Amino acid sequence: MEHIYNDIDFINIIDSIIKNKNFIKTQNTLHHGLKKLDHSIKVSYYSYLIAKKYNLDYVSVARGGILHDFFYADTNGKSFSKESYNLALNHHNIALNNSNKYFKLNDLEKDIIYKHMFPVVFTIPKYKESFLVSFIDKVIGVFEFILKAKSLFNYKVLSKVIPSFIILFSTLK
Ligand SMILES: [Fe+2]
Ligand SMILES: [Fe+2]
Repeated sequence: MEHIYNDIDFINIIDSIIKNKNFIKTQNTLHHGLKKLDHSIKVSYYSYLIAKKYNLDYVSVARGGILHDFFYADTNGKSFSKESYNLALNHHNIALNNSNKYFKLNDLEKDIIYKHMFPVVFTIPKYKESFLVSFIDKVIGVFEFILKAKSLFNYKVLSKVIPSFIILFSTLK
């Protein structure tokens, strides 16, 4: 994450958003098992880099990307509860309402936020930039899910393997 915070051009674009107290409140919850702010910053940053490379509107991409999950609900890290399922289908709406409430958005930024759940939610993006953020959100989400699953697997394996070794060693003469 350090390399992202060291990219001054990028940080300048999202600075007023990540310092907004209403935004900060929503970013300390867990998202895909990790801190939501890290997820939002990664989605925003990698979308921004690609948008810049392909001469797209990278400022709106960075701003829409950082705001795409601007919602308050906390599912306590439970990815498969009914609550988190409903949230998965509705949070694009909540994120857009919150973003409109605290920031002045252009049409592209609104489209990025509202349609970032495509194709899980059938809101077809109007702009290339919205497709880009939606795609990067899925890629980052999959990586985060794998990371979470990996740490759970390691913990489960270790919690079984270590006691077995202790028992085995205690029986040795
Ligand atoms: Fe989302
Ligand atoms: Fe997201």
